[in-house]
Amino acid sequence: MFSSYIAMPAWAQQIVATAASPGNVLSVEVQIDPMGKLAYDVKRKGKEVIGLSRLGFNLANAPKLDGNFKLVNKGVSDHDDTWEQPWGERRYVRNHYRELRVEVAQDTAEQSKRLKRGLSIVFRIYDDGVGFRYEFPAQPDGRDVAITDELTEFAVAQPATAWWIPAGELPGLEELVQKAPLKEIGTANSPLTVRLEDGTHIAFHEAALVDYASMWIRKVEGQKLRAQLAPSATGPSVVRKGPFTTPWRTMRIADDAAGLYMSDLELNLNEPNKLGDVSWVKPSKFVGVWWGMHLQQTTWNAGPKHGATTANTERYIDFAAQNGFRGVLVEGWNKGWESDWGHGGADFSFTQAYPDFDLPALSKYAQQKGVRLIGHHETGGNVAAYEKQMDAAYKLYAQLGVDSVKSGYVHEAGTMQFPSAGGGIHYGNYDSQEGVRHFVKAVTEAARYRIAVDTHEPVKDTGLRRTYPNWLSREGARGVEYNAWGNPVNPVDHEVKLVFTRMLSGPMDYTPGVLSLVGADNKVFNSTQAKQLANFVVIYSPIAMAADIPENYAKYPAAFKFIRDVPTDWADTRVLNGAVGEYVTIARKDRKSDDWYLGAVTDGQARTVSVPLAFLDPGKQYVAEIYRDGDAADYRNAHRFDLVIEKKTVTAKDALQVRLAPGGGQAIRFSPQK
Ligand code: NOJ
Repeated sequence: MFSSYIAMPAWAQQIVATAASPGNVLSVEVQIDPMGKLAYDVKRKGKEVIGLSRLGFNLANAPKLDGNFKLVNKGVSDHDDTWEQPWGERRYVRNHYRELRVEVAQDTAEQSKRLKRGLSIVFRIYDDGVGFRYEFPAQPDGRDVAITDELTEFAVAQPATAWWIPAGELPGLEELVQKAPLKEIGTANSPLTVRLEDGTHIAFHEAALVDYASMWIRKVEGQKLRAQLAPSATGPSVVRKGPFTTPWRTMRIADDAAGLYMSDLELNLNEPNKLGDVSWVKPSKFVGVWWGMHLQQTTWNAGPKHGATTANTERYIDFAAQNGFRGVLVEGWNKGWESDWGHGGADFSFTQAYPDFDLPALSKYAQQKGVRLIGHHETGGNVAAYEKQMDAAYKLYAQLGVDSVKSGYVHEAGTMQFPSAGGGIHYGNYDSQEGVRHFVKAVTEAARYRIAVDTHEPVKDTGLRRTYPNWLSREGARGVEYNAWGNPVNPVDHEVKLVFTRMLSGPMDYTPGVLSLVGADNKVFNSTQAKQLANFVVIYSPIAMAADIPENYAKYPAAFKFIRDVPTDWADTRVLNGAVGEYVTIARKDRKSDDWYLGAVTDGQARTVSVPLAFLDPGKQYVAEIYRDGDAADYRNAHRFDLVIEKKTVTAKDALQVRLAPGGGQAIRFSPQK
């Protein structure tokens, strides 16, 4: 009896299909062993990076889809096109892959006709990564496919170091990123980033997570990883009617960390835009009644310190209008914040404002000034209560010209509240199949009202912004708010870990730009002031909050100029250098002008990185407006505020020596000289 596929000796395997990426960088082999078990491996430039790894499923209502497979059909096809993003890190995305389709069926004398079942595995092999998914046909007897376990493995072929966060713990993916030998990790969320002994970097993730449970990645033994589907509270992890396809299981594979970030693998594997004209989705910057609450200066609920009052919101609207911000976020505008909302959320009204907040008048006042309110729906993880009000809530905002909403799902792991079939509620995981369904529903329903969504405590991003471009951003990691109240606050290497882990999945509403560098109770940021500016370039989000309070921006007008200038929508993005958890430099070209912006950040180590400016247009001279750490700058002392702002004339032939203080950063705007 073989307990797992990998127990089979290599000579017993039969290679049934193989294909390589367009540039012959990556290749995939699919094998079937004498027991009819399926497996694949991946080589990079001829060297194994993923060893033989099992494919299959355990089902609740039928024998397992693991073994007794025979090859029915296979095919290879090529694809190469370039598509345009309505907004993003780059305008044009090339989708160039070779597809390998392998169709198998369980068909043995021992099995009755009733159980003869087919399954296809479709690989898309790019030069910078591989995605594969399973296609389930309609089931012979019309029954549901009830998946208890996905048996997909990823057997990492060399000793590796991992950067990971645990799955199933904090909803919203807000754990600190840990570094560990891969063989020592537990059950990880994705993206899971690993560096192999020979320097190859791999990021495991998934694409197009729709109507399926989120994939956690469990270390099985040694360096073998296995998909583990987020559990359902009501039965098997996934219940679907055939035909359907699973999400794509993805591996970005590159020479270095920068190469991981430059890949568009998951976006390419998602379906094209289903919303048509999305010119109503507006990448932009915003401010809001928000940081004051996290500093405990104001409150979400009504009372003497209420933050979302008409007067205070008017003040923010004026500030936004004066400084070119499109949005003003209003949290705590609606009734229901008095209760213990993080453990219930049943009292929230999404249509009734507190009496001291005049929603219609404020949205009108904002629009007169060229500003839009950004709505807020904190649900406390009560999906059941939210879904009852969602339509009315979106309708109200749409009537008033509020065209984007920040939503929130604060709750404890495993306690999201879902509507039960016969009425009532049940508790479950936010990234279970029903959680996934809710997050997609919240976005597609919002699209009907031409509303963009920024989800906090979200399910992880799997590139669905391509299909639903109104899913503008999400949180999905520890944001800057932890510097207000976190225990601990975000560590000094937080951003340089995020860029090569969480940020591989998509935009993050990180809420950067706190120039005062201090949270509640005088908690101090592990950052210099220059790094706060660089974060606007380094941590991508099409909607970016300038999070600090206006009083603090008034204290630092010169630094604030960079925050006013920096765009949030890019024609191009280049990661110029970087190492996971150590440093990174990213250059991005503005979509609306010929300007380039550069952000570089480091961990606790001071370093100087040489940055060739070859990304600039060779025919032009540029003025580089440099915001750098002063010579004494250091995140560990009062010199964290040492910021030098200077101008240089540069061309594409120059290289800049970018010096970063401990915990520091550098932000640069390059404008062509008139
Ligand atoms: C947590 C979110 O991340 C934060 O931005 C928000 O202010 C609070 N929840 C309240 O909704």
